[in-house]
Amino acid sequence: MHEFESRTILKSSGLRGEITVPGDKSISHRAIMFASLAKGESRVRGLLRGEDCLSTLKAFQAMGVAVVETAADELIIQGRGLDGLQEPADVLDCGNSGTTMRVMSGILAAQPFFSVLTGDQYLRKRPMGRVIEPLRQMGAKILGRAGNAKAPLAIDGGGLKPIEYRSPVASAQVKSAVLLAGMQIEGTTTVYEPHLSRDHSERMLRYFGAEIESFEGGARVTGPVALSGREVEVPGDISSAAFFLVAALIVPGSELLLKNVGVNPTRSGIIDILQQMGGSIELLNPRELSGEPVADLLVKSSNLQGIEIGGELVPRAIDEFPVVSVAAAFAAGVTTIRDAKELRVKETDRIAAMCETLGLLGARIAPLEDGMQITGGQSLTGGKVNSFGDHRIAMSLAVAALRADAAVEIADTGCTATSFPNFWQLLAEIQG
Ligand code: S3P
Repeated sequence: MHEFESRTILKSSGLRGEITVPGDKSISHRAIMFASLAKGESRVRGLLRGEDCLSTLKAFQAMGVAVVETAADELIIQGRGLDGLQEPADVLDCGNSGTTMRVMSGILAAQPFFSVLTGDQYLRKRPMGRVIEPLRQMGAKILGRAGNAKAPLAIDGGGLKPIEYRSPVASAQVKSAVLLAGMQIEGTTTVYEPHLSRDHSERMLRYFGAEIESFEGGARVTGPVALSGREVEVPGDISSAAFFLVAALIVPGSELLLKNVGVNPTRSGIIDILQQMGGSIELLNPRELSGEPVADLLVKSSNLQGIEIGGELVPRAIDEFPVVSVAAAFAAGVTTIRDAKELRVKETDRIAAMCETLGLLGARIAPLEDGMQITGGQSLTGGKVNSFGDHRIAMSLAVAALRADAAVEIADTGCTATSFPNFWQLLAEIQG
């Protein structure tokens, strides 16, 4: 449980300096999972030590994987191979982490033992039918609360057959769950998705030596694959960098260099959105780290313009819409976000949360069924707002506060430890 700690953020007179954000959350989860399922030793550097990734790590430790911490952000993981995990002696607690629960249910569905997954009060409300349904089509025996739609989930693993699955949602968690079940069994498993979701699983499985085909509209794996231990370098999380990108754009007199940020095209929608709004963001020193594209991002305060956002851009920026709504509140004109119904089933209903909180601070923001409409150019007042226990809402409100006319008190800020444990410290360091 997080501390319900409140924080007061004051108007900023400029953000300057050079920072490195913590490791990418999605890539850190996958590094722990695939290193555990590989044969031999892996060394993972730059790992995010956020609570979500620690939930994944503890789950694999509970299944017999030996892990040595060699530095604050470095682990050595002794992989046990696809058939070396042990039945966990207790329930696996996924905390707040949707990725841990959904992606791991794909792994566990194919393992020949019984496991139970649970999570915190937020995760237990989130839809799990989206992974249970395709895994059941593969023959998995999974039961869940609320008519097999919610956690806790009980999995009696094994006996799967491959499928071709057309996912109704562009979700990397669904795609990964099915591919990770499929990679452990004989035959070819294919997942089609309406738009391309993040492809970190496909890239990292290839990096660990598996053959996995990505094609327009989906991905395909023929199992069982052979994964071997590797050295993995995790790039900085673009979803964490996003808070500082928006902060520097909206606070006059700012210039920030964000070092070593992952810019995988399936994740970099936030850069496209902010550049389309007129934001000055330069990608410097492009390179590759463990199969993932990386760059340093130079961002300078800019006058932003409202835009229309929808379609394939949405899954490429799915975690960034809370902070996009903050950018839009300070942009000239109207910003409309559509095709983003998924925001309603994230850690909280992020459409309702941003409309309520930014609205309280004086922004003109209205919910749409599948997005929001923000009329920018208003000044924000100070006030008291709540994060609703959602890390990205808390950090988005902190960014809004940097440009509000009076102090903003944010309640329930301990949740930032989920994905960005040193967020408040970095924010303090760059105040000019
Ligand atoms: C994630 C995928 C996204 C994202 C989440 C992490 C992942 O969810 O919102 O924060 O690591 O695969 P969906 O795949 O459900 O859209």
